[in-house]
Formats: sequence, C-alpha cells, structure tokens
Amino acid sequence: MWTFCLQRRFVHCSSRLLKKNKTAAEQRWLQRQRRDPYVKASHTRNFRCRSAFKLLEIDGKFRLLQPGHSVLDCGAAPGAWSQVAVDKVNSAGTDPTLSQGTVIGIDLLRIPPLDGAHFLSCHDVTDPTTQAKLRGLLPNGQAHVILSDMAPNASGFKDMDHEKLINMCLSLIDLAEKVLQPKGSLLCKYWDGILTHKLQEKLLSVFASVQTLKPEASRKDSSEKYFLARMYKKPGM
Ligand SMILES: C[S@@+](CC[C@H](N)C(=O)[O-])C[C@H]1O[C@@H](n2cnc3c(N)ncnc32)[C@H](O)[C@@H]1O
Repeated sequence: MWTFCLQRRFVHCSSRLLKKNKTAAEQRWLQRQRRDPYVKASHTRNFRCRSAFKLLEIDGKFRLLQPGHSVLDCGAAPGAWSQVAVDKVNSAGTDPTLSQGTVIGIDLLRIPPLDGAHFLSCHDVTDPTTQAKLRGLLPNGQAHVILSDMAPNASGFKDMDHEKLINMCLSLIDLAEKVLQPKGSLLCKYWDGILTHKLQEKLLSVFASVQTLKPEASRKDSSEKYFLARMYKKPGM
C-alpha cells in the first residue's frame, strides 16, 4: 500500500514536472530517477526507497542482522532499512522456526506503520526523553545492532553539513553506551570530510573493528560513506 502511495506520489510528481515549467535541476533529478536501477528495483521489490539496497548489500557481506536480534534504526523514515531489518531479524514472526527479533525505528518525521517494527515517529534520537522510551521498548533495554542512516537537512554548505552529521554520529557513541550490548555493532552514515578521522578514532576507542564502506547503491557523486563498527567494548565490562 505504502509503495503504491509512493509510486503514485512519484508518478504524480513526475507528471507535474513533465508538464512544463521544469527547472533544469528538476529535469536532472527526474532523469536520474528514471535511469537509476535501484529506484526501479525498489518499486519491484516494494521497498519504501532505494536506500534498502545499501543495507542489503552491507548485510549480505557482513551478516549483521540475525534472526532474534534487537535492532535500533535511527533516522528510519520512510522505513526501507526497517523493512530489511524486519525481514532479517524475523521481527514480524514470519518464520515460526526462527527466533523472533525486535526492530525499533526513530525519526523526526512520521514513519508509516510497518508490521514487525515499532516506530517512534516525530522523535529526536539525541533527546534523552526519546532514549528513555527506547530503553523501555528494547528487550532488556539492549540492542544487538544500531543502524543509522540519519542525515540533517542539507544547508548546501558542505563543511557545515559534514560537521553536523559527524556530531550526530558522535552522539550515537553516547547512545551505544546506554543501549548497545557488549560485542554489538553500529553502522552509521557520514559525509566524508575533515572531521572523519575524529569520528573514526572515537569509534576505534570503543569497538574492536571499524571499517569504511561505500556500497554500490550509494551514489558515486555523493560524499556519503558508512562506518561499520563491530565488537563493542562496553565501558566498565
Ligand atoms: C536518508 S533518510 C533515512 C532513510 C531510511 N534509512 C530508509 O531507508 O527509509 C534520513 C532521515 O534521518 C532523519 N533524522 C535526521 N536527524 C534526526 C534526528 N536527530 N533524530 C531522528 N531522525 C533524524 C531525517 O528526518 C530523515 O528522515
């Protein structure tokens, strides 16, 4: 239903743009959407957006998400990563022979409901009130995996946006201290820039392994990359 709405919205949006008064930027965006194999594939596979393929690719390589796992999806709207997570951790109980996991998604925006996921829409991940609610929702207050595809609204000033996203990622390290299990994993998106090393060092101080990833589905012309940090060394454990 949601994909249908998305497709309708896209078609509606496209036809409006196709009519007239298209700006050059709108024409470029439309052309890119039409040519993008991941956009097409996300429609075919009923994903809410193309970003699903980034997580599928990373998970295919590193087997991050296992049946029975508890997953926190930060910046979850519209919900494509949560769709992947629900399937992988069996949180909808689709396969009764496997253990059933948990998926909690948080976003500043409204996230349309998804079977197998619990969403905290209109919530800020960095807000202590959100984090208290989250602990109440996670089994034993702990997650096996924290995912973050969060991104601030881009201001157009590259360095400023980079710094903002790095700070958001740094705040996830504080959140990990509260909710990530020992030996757990954190996957976070960042925009590459001068402060990348600061985030990498901070991650290396609390995780045994930190890898830089640029999935195929991530646009080549984007500075977007991901850190996959594994084997969390929980302070005091
Ligand atoms: C690229 S989208 C995520 C797409 C998502 N992974 C998916 O597959 O559907 C980034 C999201 O991060 C959210 N976001 C940014 N800052 C946030 C914050 N402080 N707390 C919660 N969500 C945030 C934005 O509202 C936006 O929806």
